[in-house]
Amino acid sequence: MTEMSSVSRPAPMEGGGAYNRSSSVQAAGLSPAVPLFEQAAKTVQLPITPTPIVIADYGSSEGRNSLAPMSAAIRTLRNRVDPECAISVVHTDLAGNDFSALFQTLADDSDSYLRNNDAVFVSAVGRSFYEQILPSDSVTLGWSSWALQWLSRMPAPIPDQVHVNATRDATVRATYFRQANEDWRTFLKNRGRELRHGGQLVVLTMALDDNGDFGLRPLAKALYGALLGLADEGFIRPDEIKRMAIPMVSRSKEELAAPFSENEQFAGLSMIHLHVFNSEDQNWLAFKTDHDAKKFGARWAAFARASVFPTLALGLDGGRDDPRAAQFVNKFEDGMAVRLAAAPEPMRIPLANIVLVKNAS
Ligand SMILES: C[S@@+](CC[C@H](N)C(=O)[O-])C[C@H]1O[C@@H](n2cnc3c(N)ncnc32)[C@H](O)[C@@H]1O
Repeated sequence: MTEMSSVSRPAPMEGGGAYNRSSSVQAAGLSPAVPLFEQAAKTVQLPITPTPIVIADYGSSEGRNSLAPMSAAIRTLRNRVDPECAISVVHTDLAGNDFSALFQTLADDSDSYLRNNDAVFVSAVGRSFYEQILPSDSVTLGWSSWALQWLSRMPAPIPDQVHVNATRDATVRATYFRQANEDWRTFLKNRGRELRHGGQLVVLTMALDDNGDFGLRPLAKALYGALLGLADEGFIRPDEIKRMAIPMVSRSKEELAAPFSENEQFAGLSMIHLHVFNSEDQNWLAFKTDHDAKKFGARWAAFARASVFPTLALGLDGGRDDPRAAQFVNKFEDGMAVRLAAAPEPMRIPLANIVLVKNAS
């Protein structure tokens, strides 16, 4: 692999339970969306005929962070339907996701919604949510957290950074935002097909704050600095860094609302809630308690490792099979941890909460 491929796809999160272990920032960030999902379960139009109620989880990763929203929805639905009414939970993610870790979590975790819940059935789909992946008119409730910021593909290399929200290149920025707008519409069209009439979908995604800032700046700086450090020591080549990019975009409130601006509806969906907020930085809160800069750096580096290193490793000469791949992630994580520990500071984490309803027939 010597040239950057314009059709590169994002890689799933690091497997083997790594994402489950290193996603407490995401768990805290999605918590304000759980009451919205509970409310959706309370008010959603249910199937009249005794068919299973389908809850779809789009971009589940290894499932740990899906337990709270799924449990809340199941608990609420149980108050509305007979105990024997089947509830089917479908977790979806990219084909390469560690679905074994997901099923292990559901079997073993003390917070698993499968515990003490009869007539709840679980399955998984390994396909991109930028396609229709479930039957038309079959989903009653949809959930997606921390997944929509991932684009369907990497639209261009980023010459001066690995994250487009940090680049100074206006053309590249525009290319990514174009892709993000197209992907958002594609996602909505497919969910519009899959949801039943009256069905509801709750989305929690990374966003731009009112000043257009995507936050996480110290993280982005440490990430790029650590990569340059690996090049300085000759472990990777500058050419390889040029191929590395995270196909991810934090969208503004306006961009998220845009598809609904003309007719107030898009793909049969209405947006009934859109709220951008700043999530609390759990790693900073822990630092304020333990004053341990090393742990602060290590926590944020582990967050980056589990979520974006697998995609960045694709830029190595040999891609994911490069003989340096394992050492690359370890050295990269160490480099980030040291940089972040040197000057701990809180991160801004702007997120958007969205609720969509499929129009009743
Ligand atoms: C940061 S994780 C979020 C996991 C979990 N929902 C949470 O809130 O912590 C993002 C997940 O979205 C998945 N993802 C990214 N693009 C996707 C796509 N096109 N289709 C399905 N899943 C996708 C990734 O593989 C990853 O597992």
